[in-house]
Amino acid sequence: MSAFSESEHVDFLVLGGGVAGLTFALEAAGHGSVLVLTKRQRSEGSTQYAQGGIASVLGGDDRFELHVEDTLVAGAGLCKREAVEVTVREGPERIRWLRTLGVEFDKEGPEHLHLTREGGHSRRRIAHAKDTTGREVERALLAACEARGIRLVEDAVAVDLVTSGKLGLGGPNRALGAYVLERASRDVSAISAGVTVLATGGAGKVYLCTTNPDVSTGDGVAMAWRAGASVANMEFFQFHPTGLYHPDAKNFLISEALRGEGGILRNKAGEAFMARYDPRKELAPRDVVARSIDAEIKRRGDDCAFLDMTHLPKPFLLEHFPNIYATCREFGIDMAVQPLPVVPVAHFMCGGVVTDLVGRTSVPHLYAVGEVACTGLHGANRLASNSLLEGLVFGRRAAIRAADELSEVGGTRPRIPAWNPGAALAPDEGVVVTHNWDEVRRLMWNYVGIVRTQKRLTRARTRLALLRGEIRDYYWQYRLTPDLVELRNVADVAMLIVECALRRKESRGLHYVLDYPEKDDRQLHDTVLSLGDLDGR
Ligand code: FAD
Ligand code: SIN
Repeated sequence: MSAFSESEHVDFLVLGGGVAGLTFALEAAGHGSVLVLTKRQRSEGSTQYAQGGIASVLGGDDRFELHVEDTLVAGAGLCKREAVEVTVREGPERIRWLRTLGVEFDKEGPEHLHLTREGGHSRRRIAHAKDTTGREVERALLAACEARGIRLVEDAVAVDLVTSGKLGLGGPNRALGAYVLERASRDVSAISAGVTVLATGGAGKVYLCTTNPDVSTGDGVAMAWRAGASVANMEFFQFHPTGLYHPDAKNFLISEALRGEGGILRNKAGEAFMARYDPRKELAPRDVVARSIDAEIKRRGDDCAFLDMTHLPKPFLLEHFPNIYATCREFGIDMAVQPLPVVPVAHFMCGGVVTDLVGRTSVPHLYAVGEVACTGLHGANRLASNSLLEGLVFGRRAAIRAADELSEVGGTRPRIPAWNPGAALAPDEGVVVTHNWDEVRRLMWNYVGIVRTQKRLTRARTRLALLRGEIRDYYWQYRLTPDLVELRNVADVAMLIVECALRRKESRGLHYVLDYPEKDDRQLHDTVLSLGDLDGR
């Protein structure tokens, strides 16, 4: 039986139950009916796996200006200062809010939080709960939603946004809700909403190797794009320098906090190599460290580098990194006595759906918060631990604005036609889906990775055009499955990354292209794409 009624209508439809979606839901709850949808089990998303913590000005030696400056430096000229200012200045209040919800951060003494350090931060400012901060934050937010009686439906996959433009209604194109596929029954329901909120997280699954969980398939960006919203800066995909390199570790992250606490990167010969690449060594910003590891691995022909923690006392490692310690032990590695094998892997989407400072996209009544959004905070490269913070700050800001907007929308309830499956058949060629999934992710890894060339990007564009054509045909011929929905989105997001990358003819932040190895300040602007820019591609 479907979880939704035939004429389901809510004031706030929130697609995603990570830090951004749940923060929005909690703040909006007093202003109208809220429905949160999650694609799989409720806690499954990047938030749950966040390790390092949340950056905020909390230490006696820290100031807002320093956090702002560190964020701007990492962003390599493309951050929007206002977005950085509001995020940094509203940070400490957001941490207090989490504590009122019961989040247990690690403490130093009875009063103060223990603050750790990560690359690019000039001060210790990362509040954390051991090395499982995200799990603690997600637990507390879900508990708060339950206590508020907020409705949450799991295994509900948003397929596409419904807009007035798609329905052929008059007036400017605006969001009216979404079509949603239920995993168990395969039913597709139409849900109409006063305000629709994308909080669908990132798109690490576009790449073969990633820290991201399986739900991170860029659905929000792809849906927003198809609905006519502006998307920007997709060329800036952050690779985390230290994913665990082990045949059985699908996507396990080795937190940057290990380097913050003194970890040393070594090559296979045991040499500490970072000083040859950057004077800030292990604590240089992430793009620099990831490229340095990549270069060192390629120079020597090795398959990985190593993060050495063996000079630190075992009790310290167990106290600060219990989850990483235990997980590595499961893979047969004792980090107290053996350096950890690591490689850079796809981690964070700095671009996304363009929003203003209150989460509004270019499509009226459509909001985007969290990793799916491009608020201007990250610019060309995200500073470590700024993204949970972004979800907390913009989730709240968007909810306040959306609550005002709801009164403007009034009681109008557009009737959304039921999903039309057409002549769709039961899928009989599952191999098309698995093959194309693999091909997109492999070509992105090989052609659109840490170091790029125009030639490889052009090849990727050609291959993706073919694959997207095939996927489109399959999509309209067969009944929807969650895998097919995700495949279509992954291919669309891959295309957006390639198109943005081809447009930026310089190297800046995370986008490093051998044909244009220097920064060119004449290109100091966002790469913004809208549906019309790509001739229906
Ligand atoms: P997510 O937490 O990813 O949640 C996305 C939600 O959207 C999920 O509920 C999912 O089910 C739902 N969803 C997706 N598509 C659909 C759909 N089609 N229909 C319905 N629902 C959908 N950042 C930091 O600041 N500090 C850290 O220490 C840190 N560590 C990290 C460690 C790891 C391993 C990873 C992967 C990321 C880390 N990050 C960290 C980044 C940070 O965790 C994410 O950017 C952030 O949690 C994103 O939150 P979100 O709410 O935007 O999305
Ligand atoms: C980490 O713990 O290294 C991840 C931090 C982040 O991605 O912000």
